[in-house]
Amino acid sequence: MSTKEVQDRLVHILNRWKKVEDASVASTGNVIDKTNNPVIRLVMDLIQRDSQFHYHVQDFMVDILEGKTVTLNPDELEVIWDGVEKHIEIEKQTIELAKEALLLLKGRKMVIHEYLLNYLMIDEEKHNIILDTLSTIKKGMYPYG
Ligand SMILES: [Fe+2]
Ligand SMILES: [Fe+2]
Repeated sequence: MSTKEVQDRLVHILNRWKKVEDASVASTGNVIDKTNNPVIRLVMDLIQRDSQFHYHVQDFMVDILEGKTVTLNPDELEVIWDGVEKHIEIEKQTIELAKEALLLLKGRKMVIHEYLLNYLMIDEEKHNIILDTLSTIKKGMYPYG
């Protein structure tokens, strides 16, 4: 498959995906409207916000595929890297706290807290993974160190 063909197909997939995210925003809204339960509303709200952000990311990719110039160069990473490393340390603390809290609740029947802590844990792991990947990209730009 040519690069152009891959790009066209990717645009097609991303546009279909954007529609699904739109549907997700609407459907989470429907559930929110049907309940006053704060736990359900909280969970649906966070999914809705994620869906809106996923849409934004997909849109961003489509813009680039359709010709918008977006670059990421070593100089730009170098300028902010101290800040990123400090942030990586903060994210590690969040994982430790999530683990500590989950351990504390083990065997207790604090279902809501455990459920929400698991959500937070997964989200914090996600932050750690995407920053780790950014480190890998940075290293890829500096083959000699
Ligand atoms: Fe999504
Ligand atoms: Fe985080």
